[in-house]
Amino acid sequence: MVSTTPPRVSNSGCQYLPDRTPQSTTALSPNQQLMPLTADVIGDRLRIGGCDVGELVQQFGSPLYILDDQTLRTACQQYRDAFVKYYPGESLVIYASKAWSCLAVAAIVRSEGLGIDVVSGAELHTALQAGITPEKIYFHGNNKSLQELEEAIACGCTLMVDNWLELETLVKIATQPVPIMLRLTPGIECHTHEYIRTGHLDSKFGFDPTQLEELFTFVSSHSVLNCLGLHAHIGSQIFEQQPHQDLAGVLVDFLTKATQAGINVQQLNVGGGLGIRYTESDDPPSIDSWVAGVCQSLVAACQAQNIPLPKVISEPGRSLIASACVTAYTIGSTKTVPSLRTYVAIDGGMSDNPRPITYQSVYRAVVANKMQQPLSETVTVAGKHCESGDILIKNAQLPPTNPGDLLVVLATGAYNYSMASNYNRIPRPAAVLVKAGQAELILQRETYQDLLRQDVLPASLQLT
Ligand code: LLP
Repeated sequence: MVSTTPPRVSNSGCQYLPDRTPQSTTALSPNQQLMPLTADVIGDRLRIGGCDVGELVQQFGSPLYILDDQTLRTACQQYRDAFVKYYPGESLVIYASKAWSCLAVAAIVRSEGLGIDVVSGAELHTALQAGITPEKIYFHGNNKSLQELEEAIACGCTLMVDNWLELETLVKIATQPVPIMLRLTPGIECHTHEYIRTGHLDSKFGFDPTQLEELFTFVSSHSVLNCLGLHAHIGSQIFEQQPHQDLAGVLVDFLTKATQAGINVQQLNVGGGLGIRYTESDDPPSIDSWVAGVCQSLVAACQAQNIPLPKVISEPGRSLIASACVTAYTIGSTKTVPSLRTYVAIDGGMSDNPRPITYQSVYRAVVANKMQQPLSETVTVAGKHCESGDILIKNAQLPPTNPGDLLVVLATGAYNYSMASNYNRIPRPAAVLVKAGQAELILQRETYQDLLRQDVLPASLQLT
């Protein structure tokens, strides 16, 4: 998985700057860029959103998640605009908030007109607190608790029903029609890590396609189940376009069957999954081209079946937010194992970015205070956790570094903060939102006291 391609050095001599025209960054598809769209270099120093990364770390501490407002908004707008451009029917883009759920991110996607996909009571609570209207909230999950079902019903969001138990529970507890969509397993394979593949038949998510008849009969015979539509999601970090285009066709077939069973299906949700560029050898399609492919396939399938166009929903997570964020760390100790490798340690690691240890994900990094210096070193970037596998980047190409230098890992907006832990009782980093030279705190850094808040020392163990 380690790329051997050397980092791209731009005309300015700096690594990984966005491919931009002089005037505009908005035409660039954020998911195809290693850096946030606003990244630039002044002298030797990296700026994001017009803010000097070194100054941000001085003000807000290290490690620090730095989220670029413009990159996130551009991705939201590109999804929205592409559906309007390529789909003659109604459309809605919903942000898969499992990628990064917090009030500020939810408020940004709300202000861009997107809806939101949540998978837990707490993600639902966050979306509601950020002011997202329940009509634009879709609640997923393969084992929602009774409490979560009740919370969903109480707020009026749409439940993405995943299995028989959930259907039967809804029939028991609902006193009025509940808006639902049915999650189906489409039986589509795609090439991505096995842990993040969901559309193949042997998946824990969704109803098996062999049970469609039984499922549609059950739903159509219970008036509390107000079935608005059908959903499928085939996986994440996908570069091929064909699987999602095939999915559009499969969903239209399912829709026809549901209609025949007497269900008035008005919406199809094609899931998320578009990949992003983590390294220079990653080559995902643009947001515009991905949406075009899905829409064309959906329109063609509806025309072939001679049915009206349903409302189309897509629920991207990673491709909306990953490249909008970088994580800044401070470099500390170094260890050289003669003729083998040099470890450069940073002040974070698997607790703030568990993706390398979980999925063997590959990341790129730059040194934010040495942006113009030649990449003369190949080092292994090690986290600070008590675990040999806590390696963030193998064979990172960097300039020579010293303790106190700032290592910035790119494209950390998706599934980093949201999967962060307190392993070794390390407090989670702060996050700031940067925009036009201003930085605002969006997540406070955890303190030791925060970590002790849930601890209870029984009276029998207290010091006398
Ligand atoms: N919809 C559903 C039903 C999903 O399960 C997911 C992701 C998405 C949408 C959004 O997919 P995206 O556009 O982000 O690819 N933790 C893993 C990724 C797990 C994805 C889970 N589901 C990682 O860090 O790669």
